[in-house]
Amino acid sequence: MRILLIHGPNLNMLGQRQPEIYGRVSMKKINELCRQKAEELGCELVIMQSNHEGFIIDFLQENFGNCDGIIINPGALTHYGLALRDALESMRVPIVEVHLSNVYAREEWRHKSVIAPIVLGQITGFGYRGYTAALQLLYDHLLDR
Ligand code: DQA
Repeated sequence: MRILLIHGPNLNMLGQRQPEIYGRVSMKKINELCRQKAEELGCELVIMQSNHEGFIIDFLQENFGNCDGIIINPGALTHYGLALRDALESMRVPIVEVHLSNVYAREEWRHKSVIAPIVLGQITGFGYRGYTAALQLLYDHLLDR
């Protein structure tokens, strides 16, 4: 089982970026926890981060037909990234959308996700723990199929 973990714009700044909203755990630490979890589960995890929508789309296209599921925190692209949504949708694998903060409890423009209609489910508001939860849930879902 091969799963992609994608961090969108500004998530490389986790730990330093508005810690009162996003927490004090760095992206490096999140990746470590997810690698550990993937090892426990016995699945392959490929991780990338980019601040550029096009780079994320390139990465998806490179992995077309060669992954079983995707975990993504699209950052602000969540709210307007239609090219990213198209690329994700064309992958034809289950996707889990993760947000560290509860986007529905924040500014109104964050309530709309253009990604949400094409995902298996969303995890929002559980901080860094949302990523390992997403990995477990996606893994279980893939096993069930
Ligand atoms: C975020 C929420 C988005 O609205 C924001 O633009 C981010 C992070 C989250 O993880 O809570 O960059 O996706």
